[in-house]
Amino acid sequence: MSTVVIVGAQWGDEGKGKIVDFLTQKADVVARYQGGNNAGHTVVIGSEKYVLHLIPSGILHKGTRCIIGNGVVIDPRALLGEMNALEARGMNIENNLYISQNAHIIMPYHIAIELEQEKSKKIGTTGRGIGPSYTDKISRQGIRAIDLLRPDLFREKLHANLSACNYLLVNLYKAAPLDEEAIFTEYMDYAKKLEKYIADATLFINQEINAGKNILLEGAQGTLLDIDHGTYPYVTSSSTVSGGACTGLGIPPTKIDRILGIAKAYTTRVGEGPFPTELTGELGEAIRQRGGEFGATTGRPRRCGWLDIVALRYSSTINGFTGIGLTKMDILDGMEKINICVGYKYNGKIYDTFPTDLEMLIRCEPVLQEIDGWKESTSGIKDIRHLPKNALKYIKLIEDLISTKIQIISTGPKRDEIIVLEDQF
Ligand code: GDP
Ligand code: IMO
Ligand code: MG
Repeated sequence: MSTVVIVGAQWGDEGKGKIVDFLTQKADVVARYQGGNNAGHTVVIGSEKYVLHLIPSGILHKGTRCIIGNGVVIDPRALLGEMNALEARGMNIENNLYISQNAHIIMPYHIAIELEQEKSKKIGTTGRGIGPSYTDKISRQGIRAIDLLRPDLFREKLHANLSACNYLLVNLYKAAPLDEEAIFTEYMDYAKKLEKYIADATLFINQEINAGKNILLEGAQGTLLDIDHGTYPYVTSSSTVSGGACTGLGIPPTKIDRILGIAKAYTTRVGEGPFPTELTGELGEAIRQRGGEFGATTGRPRRCGWLDIVALRYSSTINGFTGIGLTKMDILDGMEKINICVGYKYNGKIYDTFPTDLEMLIRCEPVLQEIDGWKESTSGIKDIRHLPKNALKYIKLIEDLISTKIQIISTGPKRDEIIVLEDQF
C-alpha cells in the first residue's frame, strides 16, 4: 500500500511508459497528473507496441483503474481516438477510465493559435495546443471537462474565448477565423461520448489511497521541461516535477511514499533549447539510430548526448527522488569509451550546479569524464549479476555522483527486460 510518483528526470522520453507499465503489475490505480497529448509513452509487450498519449500507461493491465487528473489538458478528439484504438486491440476502457471533471479541455483555437505563435517564437512544440490551453486555465477562462456537460455554459465560454482568438487569428496573424457553430457541434458530440467517464477524480483517488491501495502517479515530459524549473522558455507549460503530482490530482504531499526518477543512460531532447552535452556529429547520429530516438508523438529526430550528471543531480534535488530507474543501458553496449558530464565550464570557471540562468546554460561547455565502455550485450538482462563489470561501474559512478540509488535498470523496450533492485510497492 504505497503511492509512488514516476517522474521524467531529464528532457522527456526517458522510458516512463515502460516503467509505469512494468510497475502496474502491482498497482491498483494509475493516474496522469499533467501534460496532454504532447506526451508519447511507449509500452512494448511481446511483439505488440502501444504508444499512449493521454491514457495512463497502466491501461494495458486488465482491471487497473486509470485516471486522467485535473492537471492534465485533454484534447477530446485525441482522447477518443486513443480510446477507440485501444478498444480495437481488445482493451476494456469502459470500466477502467476516469476523467477529472476539473481537467481543462484543448480547443481547436488553442491549436490554431499555437501554430501561429510557433512561426515567430520557435520553441519547437508538439503543436497540440498545450501552451494556449494552460494559458486559458491560468487566466481563468479555460473550459473544463465538466463544462462539456452543460451545453449553455459551454456555448457561453466558447463564444467569449473564440471571439478573442478569432480576433487574434484574423488581425494579428492574418489567418482564417474558426467557426463557432462547427466547434460547438463537434464538442457536444465528444461530450456525449465522454460523459460517462467524467467524474470527481480527486475524491476517487483519495478514497483509493485511504483504502490502502497501490497507486502510481505517472508524470509526462521531464523535469527540465518543467514550467518553473526547466530551461524556460524552452519548456512545456505544466508542472512536470513530483510536486505537480499533488496539485495535478489533489493528493496531499504527506500521502506520497516514493518518487522514482526515470533517466536514460544518456540524454535526449526534442525541440529547441539548450542541451550542454549534445553530440551533433556522427556519434550523436549513431546513438539516435541505435536508440531509435525519434519522437513517439511527432516522429521528430531526438537530439542525443552524453549523460548529464549536473542536470540529473538538479533533477534529484527538485523532485526528491527516492530512487532512479535507469533505462536504455543496452544502447551503450559495445562503445569503446563513454563520457559523462560532471560539470559546466563558463567564463573560465567550473560549476557543478545547474544554472537557472539560460544564457549561462546556452554558453557553458560540458566538463566530461571518460570511462571505459563494455563490449558485452546487456540487452534483455534480468539479473544484475549478469551485467558486464564496466556496466556495473557505470551504474555505481552515477549513484555516487547524484547520491541517489538506482533501483531499477531497464535493459530493453519489453516489459520483462528489466532488473529490479528494489521493489516500489
Ligand atoms: P516516455 O515518453 O518516457 O514514456 O518514453 P518514450 O516511449 O517516448 O521513449 C522511450 C523509448 O525507448 C521507447 O521506444 C521505448 O520502447 C524504448 N525503451 C524504454 N526502455 C528501454 C530500454 O531499456 N532499452 C531499449 N533499447 N529501449 C527502451
Ligand atoms: P513524454 O511524456 C519529450 C517538448 C517539445 C517542446 C517542448 C514544448 O513523451 O516524455 P509542448 O507541445 O509541450 O508545448 O512543447 O516540450 N515536449 C516533449 N519532449 N517528451 C515529451 O513527452 C514531450 N512533450 C513535450 O518537444 O520542446
Ligand atoms: Mg515520450
